[in-house]
Amino acid sequence: MFSKAYSAAIHGIDGLIVSVEADVSDGLPLFDMVGLLGSEVKEARERVRIALKNSGYQLPAKRITVNLSPADIRKEGTAFDLPVAIAILTAFGYIPEESLSHVLIIGELSLSGTINKVNGVLPIVYSARQQGFLKCIVPKENAREGAVVNGIQTYGVSTLLEVVELLNAVKEFVPEFVDVKQLFHNQDREEDIDFAEVAGQKAAKRAIEIAVCGMHNILMIGPPGSGKTMLAKRIPTIMPELSFEESMEISKIYSIAGLMDQQPLILKRPFRSPHHTITTTALTGGGITPKPGEISLAHLGVLFLDELAEFQKNTIEVLRQPLEDKSINITRLNASYRYPAGFMLVAAMNPCSCGYYPDRNKCNCSINLVKRYLGRISQPLLDRFDICIEALQMNYKELEVQEKQETSEEIRRRVSIAREIQMERYKEQNIYFNSELTPRSIKKYCKLGTKEQSLLEQAFIKMNLSARAYHRILKVARTIADLDQCEQIGTKHISEAICYRSMDQKYWGE
Ligand SMILES: Nc1ncnc2c1ncn2[C@@H]1O[C@H](COP(=O)(O)OP(=O)(O)OP(=O)(O)O)[C@@H](O)[C@H]1O
Ligand SMILES: [Mg+2]
Ligand SMILES: [Zn+2]
Repeated sequence: MFSKAYSAAIHGIDGLIVSVEADVSDGLPLFDMVGLLGSEVKEARERVRIALKNSGYQLPAKRITVNLSPADIRKEGTAFDLPVAIAILTAFGYIPEESLSHVLIIGELSLSGTINKVNGVLPIVYSARQQGFLKCIVPKENAREGAVVNGIQTYGVSTLLEVVELLNAVKEFVPEFVDVKQLFHNQDREEDIDFAEVAGQKAAKRAIEIAVCGMHNILMIGPPGSGKTMLAKRIPTIMPELSFEESMEISKIYSIAGLMDQQPLILKRPFRSPHHTITTTALTGGGITPKPGEISLAHLGVLFLDELAEFQKNTIEVLRQPLEDKSINITRLNASYRYPAGFMLVAAMNPCSCGYYPDRNKCNCSINLVKRYLGRISQPLLDRFDICIEALQMNYKELEVQEKQETSEEIRRRVSIAREIQMERYKEQNIYFNSELTPRSIKKYCKLGTKEQSLLEQAFIKMNLSARAYHRILKVARTIADLDQCEQIGTKHISEAICYRSMDQKYWGE
């Protein structure tokens, strides 16, 4: 007897349909599984055998062969337990063969026959719908994740016996339902943090606003307690609200990483701040059972590297490629895949190991020591920051003033307008933000008048700028002009953009 069930593997952030074939024949009693299986999938054999027994099935002593195809895709994880068990039960005649067509099944089995949650349900259900499946059977705990996908029914199940009942249609099961529209509109938009709580720091706030408008990477340098961490944490509060498509894109990544926490969709912009002891794999993603790393979990949001100089040098250097490509390619022995990584990089650091350079009242570090500390950030990495600012220590008086500070919502309104201007301008370009402009498109979209040109030329000579720095000034000036709702870049936009370049000269220049 032969049967075929459908399941799925995760490849990058997509679900890939896998067929699970079971064949039962006479011969020595044996249970074999083939089809390029990772170690967890190989162990499925034991889990399935015992779960079947403990669910009350006394299978006749036969030769059972299970094949997972396509054979060239490596199957990982525990989600194949349930489809393997179902394929075997079908081959033995406990389930009618035809009830398996157009049904996709995933779930991990415990030895007692209950079903445990698995990762990646959202992208799998999404792919299943695209492939024309009508139903998905998934672990109860993951059912709400699957139910956000329209046009396919998702059933949450808790035991193997329940799945058999469902497929035999012996009693009625109701597909999981999530009202996505309501979820989206009724979400609690109240943030528990707001820019209004940050006293003063006008210059830093302005630079952050510009950075968010054009998705420019930003580096903040300054002494301890100057509010760098406080400012960075508030950046997502001025980013535009997530669209449904963005929410879906982010949720797929979180689903694969197993970070959905019962919620069916991610509704807030990501803000990830990995500790400086993080490993390269945890930052970029990958591993034996592939998982997205912090840079992908920050997709469409903020990756905050606090205490940048404390990170392992080779760990932060790997960021250079994803910062250019907005995605990361992970190559393994027999597969390569891509995770999205379109994040805004925000970093903060002290200028020296004591933190107070160049304040000589507090800092005793020798110039060599300071240089060595700053040297932990390589020039190419430094070049990836379009905006570099100093966070200055606030004095008591500045903190005391009760001057009303602008709220995140007020800032966000301006950001949204500037974002729309960029969207409109680049609608045929396959880019969204000024920071994504290539040198060629800079020529087209950042045209300067003669006054502006000579201003930039003077700065170029005086500050001994590189070609890269020159392009970055133009991109930032474009964003500042957009915030001003000016089609033409003016001298004040250029000079402000130059300011954001002079800070790294101050610390890293000769
Ligand atoms: N502008 C400000 N307005 C209100 N509170 C502030 C401001 N700046 C600093 N603080 C207070 O000081 C605390 C320390 O700030 P924060 O941790 O952001 O400093 P930091 O620059 O990250 O320092 P470090 O270099 O030590 O990490 C904040 O939690 C906040 O209470
Ligand atoms: Mg800090
Ligand atoms: Zn010092």
